[in-house]
Amino acid sequence: MISGPLLRPPAQADARLQLSASKRSAGRPVASACPHASRHRSLPHRGEDLGYSTVQKQDGLPAEIDLSRPSAARVYDYFLGGAHNFEIDRQLAEQIASMTPNLAGTMRAGREFLRRAVRVLLHDGIDQFLDIGSGIPTVGNVHEVAQSVNPNARIVYVDIDPVAVAHSRDLLVGNDQTGVIHADLRDPEHILARARALNLLDFDRPLGILLAGVVHFIGDVDRPGDLLATLRAAAAPGSCLVISHSTFEDQPREMLDAQRLSARTDTEITLRSRAEITGFFGDWTLLEPGVVHMPLWRPDSASDVDDNPAQFGAFGGVARHDQSVG
Ligand SMILES: C[S@@+](CC[C@H](N)C(=O)[O-])C[C@H]1O[C@@H](n2cnc3c(N)ncnc32)[C@H](O)[C@@H]1O
Repeated sequence: MISGPLLRPPAQADARLQLSASKRSAGRPVASACPHASRHRSLPHRGEDLGYSTVQKQDGLPAEIDLSRPSAARVYDYFLGGAHNFEIDRQLAEQIASMTPNLAGTMRAGREFLRRAVRVLLHDGIDQFLDIGSGIPTVGNVHEVAQSVNPNARIVYVDIDPVAVAHSRDLLVGNDQTGVIHADLRDPEHILARARALNLLDFDRPLGILLAGVVHFIGDVDRPGDLLATLRAAAAPGSCLVISHSTFEDQPREMLDAQRLSARTDTEITLRSRAEITGFFGDWTLLEPGVVHMPLWRPDSASDVDDNPAQFGAFGGVARHDQSVG
C-alpha cells in the first residue's frame, strides 16, 4: 500500500501554486481543484494504453507519478480525510479551502450522492458499474456499497491519475469482480475497449455508468457532450447514467470570485449551468427528482438535507436508458 509521505515539493512546484494571471475560460466561471490540465492537453493517442497492466513502483510509488504538481485525485483524498496525498497536494487544498470554504463539504456531499445513486441503481436491478473518474479509494467505495447489497456486483474503475489507479489495484487484489483501468474520459472509445477486454461487464445488459465529480474537469474544447454520447451509445436499454457536476448556479458572489481566482492556477474546472448538465443525459429519462443540488437527490432522510443545499456548488442527477429510446 502506498502511503502519503511528507515530501517537500520542488521550489518550482511551489511557484505553480501561486496564482498567476494566465488562463480563463471564455465567458464562463471556472475553478481549480485538479492539476491535470497538462495531462488534459496531452491526450494519448487513441488506443494507447495509458495505464499499467502492472503497476510500476519506484521507492514505493508508481513511476509515473508526477510529484512536481498536485493531483486532483490526491487533493480530493485530502479533503475527504484520506492519507494518500503529498505536501504539494495539501498546499493546493489549503489554498483552495481558504478561498472556497465549502469545498470539503461539497466533496463529502458528492460522495453521499454517489452512494445513494448506486443504491438506487442496485434496487433497479443493475449489478454492473463503470465508474469513470473513480478517484483514490476511500470509505464507502462503489464496490463496497454495491457488493454489500449484491455480492455478485461487478465494478470497473477508471481514472486518469496513477495514484488513484495504483491504490485501487492494491485495494482490489483478490476481488475478482472488479477491475481498474488507467484511462482518460476524453477517450471514451478507449475506455470502452479496455472495459470490454476485461470481460467483467456485459454491455448487452443494463449498466450503471458513474461520472461523479469528473465531467467538470472536461473543458468545452474537449466536447464533453460528444464524450457522454459515446458512452451512452455503448449502453444497453435499462442502463443508468449518474452525473454530479459543479455549477455556478445559485452560488454566492464571493464563492464565484474565489473560483475565478483559483482558475488562475494550473488547472481548471468548468462550472456549468443546470441546463448544460442536464444535456449530458441526452435523451435518457431523468429519474425523480431530476437534476438538483446534490443533497436534494433522494436524501436518506429529511434531516440529512442541509438548510442551504446550494452551498455545495454541484448538481447531481440520474437518468435511465428506457427501452423506447433509440
Ligand atoms: C473529484 S474526484 C471524484 C472521485 C469520485 N468519483 C467521487 O465522486 O468520490 C475526480 C476524479 O476524476 C479524475 N479525473 C479527472 N480528469 C479525468 C479524466 N479526463 N479522465 C479520467 N479521470 C479523470 C481525477 O483523477 C479524480 O480522481
